[in-house]
Amino acid sequence: MPVSIVIGSQWGDEGKGKIVDLLSNDVDVVARYQGGANAGHTICWDDQEFVLHLIPSGIFHDGVDCVIGNGVVLDPKAVIEEIEQIEALGYPVEGRLHISHNAHVIMPHHKAIEAAQEQGRKSDTDDDAIGTTGRGIGPAYADKFARTGIRVVDLLDRDVLRTKLTRAIEAKNALLKQVYGANQLDVDAIVEEYVELDQKIDPYVTDTAQLLGRALDNDKHVLAEGAQGSLLDIDFGSYPFVTSSHPTAGGCSTGLGVSPVHVNRIIGIAKAYCTRVGNGPFPTELENEMGEHLRKVGAEFGATTGRPRRCGWLDLVALRYTTMINGFTELVITKLDVLSGLDEIKVCVAYQYDGKETQRFPSEAHTLERITPVYETLPGWDEDISDARHWSDLPSAAQDYLRFVEEHSRAPIGSVSIGPRRDQIISDVNEAPVA
Ligand code: GDP
Ligand code: IMO
Ligand code: MG
Repeated sequence: MPVSIVIGSQWGDEGKGKIVDLLSNDVDVVARYQGGANAGHTICWDDQEFVLHLIPSGIFHDGVDCVIGNGVVLDPKAVIEEIEQIEALGYPVEGRLHISHNAHVIMPHHKAIEAAQEQGRKSDTDDDAIGTTGRGIGPAYADKFARTGIRVVDLLDRDVLRTKLTRAIEAKNALLKQVYGANQLDVDAIVEEYVELDQKIDPYVTDTAQLLGRALDNDKHVLAEGAQGSLLDIDFGSYPFVTSSHPTAGGCSTGLGVSPVHVNRIIGIAKAYCTRVGNGPFPTELENEMGEHLRKVGAEFGATTGRPRRCGWLDLVALRYTTMINGFTELVITKLDVLSGLDEIKVCVAYQYDGKETQRFPSEAHTLERITPVYETLPGWDEDISDARHWSDLPSAAQDYLRFVEEHSRAPIGSVSIGPRRDQIISDVNEAPVA
């Protein structure tokens, strides 16, 4: 059985959680392959809403196993809290959640370094901060690649952890003091707190690459859940205003230990417009009433930090770029309902840079900052579409909008989401005639 991947095609918060939850009806395993508790994946059912940060969005489905892969950076306290919250809702987690022994661990010193680095990028006149989520992601990945990180397996051995953690915090304290002039961390208090976690985390830890390999041998269907978005990828995003992992398709193989030969479906999630949280270039950003309108109607506030999301028109140059990088076999367009009631809708079809028109997405931030978007204007629609369940229920202007997106992104649209709830989905797009 194959592997499917769900990937954010923009700057994150495209509605991946909702779509992974829906697809979990038909899979055996859901696996996170990168990122950490910087993610906020919202799932809504009946009148409930739950935001997952680390645990895969298949956890609310009986019989689905959930994996936190080696490519994730794990905050052990955050995962234990999340397990307790989910179990309090009546969903069993033990026996269904499997955490890679090789995943790297986020510790208080990663968050302290990140806070000091972000502060250091601000001055009275400039703000060059990345606008991170403050979850310690960048410094934890930096330690991983510097080969100084602590892994989940180290949490299980109190003596090893005590030694490694003491060494790590002492080194970071020197950095915090000498480079950033920041407060020192209490080595003993942190060591005592974290050695106690071994028993809590132990039941979940395993070799998840082996587990996934066995699942595939046994014809199980694995769904890989990307966090963040392709334009936040460390290599392909608007560096340095990116996250420190690979949300793009390639990250799935290294982040889980699953060979690309198994992957046969790569689903790109795209909002019908664009949003971005944090700093960095955003060519189609609307810093006006229309931007406010999208933020209000789309309830665009961060699921992890509560920050207002920056809003703008759909950027088809960027979407074509992320389709190329990921090889999307289909797109799911979310939040189409948010565009209802507009007289006209703009979409960016090209960039202007140095007086020339281009179709190339420049991932380097300094070029992207100087882009002027070239827009086409499409007619809007008045109807409330949140009760639509079939392609034929959509007004023709909404159908035309989707066909335009499909043509310019060069990926077929598989489904369309028209509200936050599970039932608010249109899945017969492909069966509908293409004009
Ligand atoms: P993720 O990080 O990609 O999982 O997305 P988030 O959960 O951070 O943000 C998406 C937000 O939009 C959440 O509040 C969802 O409940 C909501 N949402 C998802 N799909 C739709 C949709 O089609 N329409 C509307 N109005 N809201 C949606
Ligand atoms: P989900 O999975 C939106 C952004 C941060 C910041 C940059 C780097 O919910 O889509 P980091 O803390 O990762 O070092 O911050 O990346 N960012 C996200 N934006 N959705 C996310 O996750 C994000 N995770 C990180 O705002 O700009
Ligand atoms: Mg989110």
